[in-house]
Amino acid sequence: MDNATITRPTVLILLGPPGAGKGTQARMLEEDFGLVQLSTGDLLRAAVAAGTEAGQQAKAVMEAGGLVSDDIVLAILKDRMAEPDTARGVILDGFPRTAGQAEALDGLLDGAGMKVTSVISLEVDDAAMIARVAGRHTCAGCGEGYHDAFKLPATAGVCDRCGGTAFKRRADDNAETAGARLTAYHAQTAPLIAYYEGRGVLERIDAMDDIAAVRDSLSRIVQTVTR
Ligand code: AP5
Repeated sequence: MDNATITRPTVLILLGPPGAGKGTQARMLEEDFGLVQLSTGDLLRAAVAAGTEAGQQAKAVMEAGGLVSDDIVLAILKDRMAEPDTARGVILDGFPRTAGQAEALDGLLDGAGMKVTSVISLEVDDAAMIARVAGRHTCAGCGEGYHDAFKLPATAGVCDRCGGTAFKRRADDNAETAGARLTAYHAQTAPLIAYYEGRGVLERIDAMDDIAAVRDSLSRIVQTVTR
């Protein structure tokens, strides 16, 4: 893909329920367009693993499938956005998730002379999402994502990207917690679709397609909105 299509600082938001493919597609957009993937889920999991105060507060909420408080999420995001590698643009994966986070993002971007370029809603069926989440695993070395049925390494047990042989599964990837995460998505995050539609920056794609087809749809949108 053509990295040169990005001509100005770009802020893409991937919206969608658990398992919609936000992380999978954000990593590919990162490769295709040279933008930086910024996943609040990954940042929070790193804080939990490091045992920071924010991580300790977030841990139980994440294990129950609820949303971590806006204060904690915004502090973590703000710190990450201040790093120099984000200057060319970011793909926000899993953020914003509440009206308060969306408003705070506008303020943060305003201060940096930026604005939201495009919000892409990954449209999927709830029923299929539990299966996607339950089959997910990632390479313990490089974080490349896989699925028991939909995306296996070319050589069984060996990561395509780094050759690692250890894989891990997330503590919140079980049917019960995934159900709670879907409920939180519909109650607190789905209303952002109408919010961004009203601002004229929303795009919708059918994310029930296979991974390659979704990648193509997303790339076409990114090429258009970044011109
Ligand atoms: P987070 O890490 O953001 O999880 P999530 O939103 O539940 O999303 P997932 O990571 O489960 O799904 P995804 O859409 O990235 O799917 P993926 O690409 O991996 O958040 C975790 C928790 O942190 C939250 O519950 C909350 O507690 C907290 N949190 C995070 N951000 C927060 C915020 N802003 N505010 C408050 N709290 C926050 O794909 C899933 C699987 O399906 C993979 O195995 C993949 O290979 C496969 N797959 C992907 N696409 C396809 C396809 N098209 N066809 C078939 N299989 C596919």
